[in-house]
Amino acid sequence: MGFSHHTISCPMLRALLVIICSCFLRFTAAIDTIRVNQSIRDPETLISYGQKFKFGFFSPVNSSYRYVGVMFNVPVITAIWVANREKPLNDSTGTVEISGDGNLVIMDGQKEIIWSSNILSYVKDSSAVILDTGNLVLQDNSNGRTIWQSFEHASDSFVEKMKISTDLRTNEKNILTSWRSPQDPGLGNFTSTVEPLVIPQSFVWKNGYPYWRSGPWNGQIFIGMPYMKSFYKHGMDVVNDHLGSAYLIFANLNSSVFLYYVLNSSGNLVEKLWSDEKGAWLVTWSSIVNECDIYGRCGPFACCNAQDEPICTCFPGYEPINKDEWSAENWTSGCTRITPLRCERNNSAGKEDGFLKLSQVKVPDHVKWLPAPDVDCRRQCLSNCSCIAYAYYAGIGCMTWAESLIDVQKLSDGGPDLYIRLAHSELGDKKYWKVITAAIVVLAFITILLCAHFLRKLFSQDQRKRKTELIQSATGKTDAEYSEVGIAKHNMHGVKLEALPLFKLGTLSHATRKFDSMNKLGQGGFGPVYKGKLPNGQEIAVKRMARSSNQGVEEFMNEVEVISKLQHRNLVRLLGCCVEHAEKMLVYEYMPNGSLDSYLFDSCKQQLLDWQTRLAIIEGICRGLLYLHRDSRLRIIHRDLKASNILLDEELNPKISDFGMARIFCCKEDQANTTRVVGTYGYMPPEYALRGIFSEKSDVYSFGVLLLEILSGKRNTSFYHEDQQLFLIAYAWKLWNENKIMNLIDPIIYDPRVESDVVRYANVGLLCIQEIAADRPHISAVLSMLSSESVVLPRPKQPPFSAIQMSPETEYSQMTPDLCSVKDVAVTIVGR
Ligand SMILES: *[C@@H]1O[C@H](CO)[C@@H](O)[C@H](O)[C@H]1NC(C)=O
Ligand SMILES: *[C@@H]1O[C@H](CO)[C@@H](O)[C@H](O)[C@H]1NC(C)=O
Ligand SMILES: *[C@@H]1O[C@H](CO)[C@@H](O)[C@H](O)[C@H]1NC(C)=O
Ligand SMILES: *[C@@H]1O[C@H](CO)[C@@H](O)[C@H](O)[C@H]1NC(C)=O
Ligand SMILES: *[C@@H]1O[C@H](CO)[C@@H](O)[C@H](O)[C@H]1NC(C)=O
Ligand SMILES: *[C@@H]1O[C@H](CO)[C@@H](O)[C@H](O)[C@H]1NC(C)=O
Ligand SMILES: *[C@@H]1O[C@H](CO)[C@@H](O)[C@H](O)[C@H]1NC(C)=O
Ligand SMILES: *[C@@H]1O[C@H](CO)[C@@H](O)[C@H](O)[C@H]1NC(C)=O
Ligand SMILES: *[C@@H]1O[C@H](CO)[C@@H](O)[C@H](O)[C@H]1NC(C)=O
Repeated sequence: MGFSHHTISCPMLRALLVIICSCFLRFTAAIDTIRVNQSIRDPETLISYGQKFKFGFFSPVNSSYRYVGVMFNVPVITAIWVANREKPLNDSTGTVEISGDGNLVIMDGQKEIIWSSNILSYVKDSSAVILDTGNLVLQDNSNGRTIWQSFEHASDSFVEKMKISTDLRTNEKNILTSWRSPQDPGLGNFTSTVEPLVIPQSFVWKNGYPYWRSGPWNGQIFIGMPYMKSFYKHGMDVVNDHLGSAYLIFANLNSSVFLYYVLNSSGNLVEKLWSDEKGAWLVTWSSIVNECDIYGRCGPFACCNAQDEPICTCFPGYEPINKDEWSAENWTSGCTRITPLRCERNNSAGKEDGFLKLSQVKVPDHVKWLPAPDVDCRRQCLSNCSCIAYAYYAGIGCMTWAESLIDVQKLSDGGPDLYIRLAHSELGDKKYWKVITAAIVVLAFITILLCAHFLRKLFSQDQRKRKTELIQSATGKTDAEYSEVGIAKHNMHGVKLEALPLFKLGTLSHATRKFDSMNKLGQGGFGPVYKGKLPNGQEIAVKRMARSSNQGVEEFMNEVEVISKLQHRNLVRLLGCCVEHAEKMLVYEYMPNGSLDSYLFDSCKQQLLDWQTRLAIIEGICRGLLYLHRDSRLRIIHRDLKASNILLDEELNPKISDFGMARIFCCKEDQANTTRVVGTYGYMPPEYALRGIFSEKSDVYSFGVLLLEILSGKRNTSFYHEDQQLFLIAYAWKLWNENKIMNLIDPIIYDPRVESDVVRYANVGLLCIQEIAADRPHISAVLSMLSSESVVLPRPKQPPFSAIQMSPETEYSQMTPDLCSVKDVAVTIVGR
C-alpha cells in the first residue's frame, strides 16, 4: 500500500485511514448480522461466518421479480428458504431491516412492509444472523434467546441439522412446500411431511392426498425405499417419542461437500450434491423414478412392477373390480378377492385360510403394528378375521394390515416379504393353463429339487451339529442335558443362533495371525480383543473369551443373544461368532478409531475432538441408547455404558459396544433386581451399586456421567482438582451451584461462543445423574433436551456421591503422569 512509504503524522490523515480500513473491512470480511437501525438493500447479501450460506435478494431463473431468501453460497442461485414467497418485489428498491418492534421485515420502495417475521411480543433490541448451517436466526440481544428462525418455517428445502417435524399433541408442523414452478417460489401443490404413525413414515402430498410414501422407518432406514442405501449414508434419522411427535433430520457426514434435499415443483423429492468441477448441482437420488413410485398407482389389492408390461397386476386370488377399465389401463379402482375367506363365510366349513408370499415388496400403507416382541406373526394374523396380511421386518417386528392393501410395489433390491391372506381353495388352486405350463417344467424342477434336498440335508446336519456344539460348549452341559437346558435357553428369548454366521477357528486364527500380540487391540472384561483381516479383505475385531474363566460363559451367551437382534447406526455390529473346543469368540466390525476413552483422556488425541464432534458423539450415544430402550421393541438395559465401551468409526461416529452385561426386559417389567452387581465403578447409580436395582434409569445415569466426561475431557474417577479430591460429578455440581459451569469444559475446546450449549449440556448431564432414579429423565426426553435450544430445562437436584472423597487406590492412579494408562476399574460384587 502506498501509505506505508510515508510517515503518517497528521491525525486527520490517520483518521481517514481508519475510516477507509473499516469500510474496506466491512465489504470484504463477511458480514452476517443485521442490527436495529441497519438495513441491507437490493442487491446486497449477508454471508455466513464460514461462507457456506448467504442471505439477501435474488431472482429465480427467467424471472424478473425480486425475492429475499437464504441461498447456498455457490455460483448458481440456489435458494433454500424464501421469505416473501407469495409477495415478490417487482423492482430493486426493496430493503431488509429490523423494525421498531424487533421483527425482521422486508419493505418495498414505498416503505410498505411486504413480509415480516411476525413475532407478536415486542423486543427492544434484536438482530438477525445468517448462521453457517443456513439457518436465519432472529435473536433477542438482551438475553441471547432465539425468537424466530427460518429452520422452523421451512420452504421447499431440507438441509443438514434442520428438522422436518410433526407434533400431533400441539398440532405444530414443519413441512416442505414445493414452489409453484422453477420460476415461481409461491406455494405449490406439493408438501412433504413426516408422520408419527405407529411406525413413522415420510410422505409427499399433492393437494392433501398422498403422492409418495417412504415406507415404514425401522430405526435405521425407510423400508420402502430401494435406494435408501445412499440416503442412509447421510445419517438420515427419524426421532420418534411414541407420544405423537416425530422429526426427520440428517447429518451430512462429509462437511466438505454441499448436499441437500428439495421438494421440486413437480412433486419429486430430490437429493442434490454440489459439484465444483461441473459448477452445477447433481441429482444423486430422487423419490419418483418410475410410475410405480406414485402412491396407489395400481389401486387397492394390486402390485405395481415397473419392469412388467402392463405395470399393474392384481394380487394372486384377486380380480379387477372393473375389467373394462382395467384392460384400458385405468387402474384406479383396483382389485377384489375372488373367494371369500373362511372366517367371513356364515358356514365355517372348509379348511383354514392360508397365506401367500409376495417377496421383496414395498409394504402397503396403513400398518397396524403388534407391539409384543417375538410374537408369532402368522398365528396372530390368522386369529383375527380383520387381519388380511402380515409382514415381519428386523427393527420393526410384526406388521399387520386390516382394511385395504394399497401402494404395494415390487422392489428390485431388498424389502420385506408380504404375506397376504387367502381362502384355502385359492392357495392350492391352479388354473388349467398353469397346470400345463407346470407339467412342462416339472421334470426340470424335480432334478433341481432333488439336488436342493440333498444339499439342504447336508447343510442342516452340519448346522445342527454346530449348534449343539455351540450350546454345549457355552453351557458346559453334556449331550443328555443339552436337549433340556439348551433348548430351554434357546427358546427363552427366541434367539436364532443359526441366523448368526459361525466362523471357523482356523479362519480367525489366520485372520489375526494366530492371535499375535501385535494385533491385540485391548483387553475387555472377559478377555483380549484382536484385530484381524479376513481373506476377502474385510477388517474385523475378534473378542476372545479368556479360556480359564468360566465367568464369561453366561455373558458370552447373553451378548450373542442380545446383539444378534440389534441394528442401529450407533451400535457396533456383530458379524458372527466362533465356538470350537474351549474357544469362544465374537467377531465384530472393526472400528479403526478405537474407543472413546482412548481419545477423550489422551492429551494428544483429545484435540481431535472439537466441540462439534463432541456434540455429535453425545447425540449419537443418546440415539443408540434410545434405540436400546425404546425403538428396538425389545427394551434392553445396557448396564455397562462407559467411555471404553463407546467405539468410534472412521468419521468418529460413536457406536455402543460390549453387550456382555445387557439385560432384555420383558414387556411390562420396569425394573429388576440382581444379586450380582456388575458394572464399572464411577458409572453405577447408587440404587444399583448399593441395592442391585437396575432399570432404564441406570443407563441414563451412566450416560450422564459419560456426558460430563466428554464435556470436561476428564475421567469421573481419576479427577483431581486443586487440593481437593473430588469426583468429577461432585466438581460439576459445585461449579453449577457457583454459576461457573464454563470452567468444567475441556480447555482445549473452550470457546465463549458455545457457552449456551455448554450450559445446556451440563444441565442435562446433571439431570441424568440425580440421586433418585425417578427424577432422572427418560432417554427420549434427554434427546429432545439436547437437540432443542428452546426447551426450558428443570434445575437438577444434587447428584449422589458428591460428598465422597476418593479412595487411596484411585488417588494413586490419578497421580500417575501417564493418564493414558489409567483404565476403568470393573467391579463385580457377588451377593449382598
Ligand atoms: C434506532 O433509531 C431510533 C430513531 O433514530 C433511535 O431512537 C434508537 O435509539 C436507535 N436504536 C439503536 C439501538 O441504535
Ligand atoms: C429460461 O428461458 C430460456 C429462454 O426462454 C429457456 O431456454 C430456458 O430453458 C429457461 N430456463 C428455465 C430454467 O426455465
Ligand atoms: C410494483 O408494485 C407496487 C406495489 O408494490 C405498485 O404500486 C407498482 O405499480 C408496481 N410497479 C409495476 C411496474 O408493476
Ligand atoms: C394445483 O392444483 C390445482 C387444483 O388441482 C390446479 O388448478 C393448479 O393448476 C395446480 N397448480 C400447479 C402449479 O400445478
Ligand atoms: C468428502 O468429499 C470430497 C469431495 O467429494 C472427497 O474428496 C473426500 O474424500 C470426502 N471425504 C470423506 C471423508 O468422505
Ligand atoms: C424434479 O426432479 C425430477 C428428478 O430429478 C426431474 O426429473 C424433474 O424435471 C424436476 N422437476 C422440475 C420442475 O424441475
Ligand atoms: C378411471 O376410472 C375411474 C373410476 O371408475 C374414473 O372416475 C376415471 O375417470 C377413469 N379415468 C380415466 C382416465 O378414464
Ligand atoms: C350371512 O348371514 C347374514 C345374516 O345372518 C346374511 O345377511 C348374509 O348375507 C350371509 N352371508 C352369506 C355369504 O351367506
Ligand atoms: C382384530 O383386528 C382389528 C383391526 O386391527 C382390531 O380392531 C380388533 O380389535 C382385533 N380383534 C381382536 C379380537 O383382536
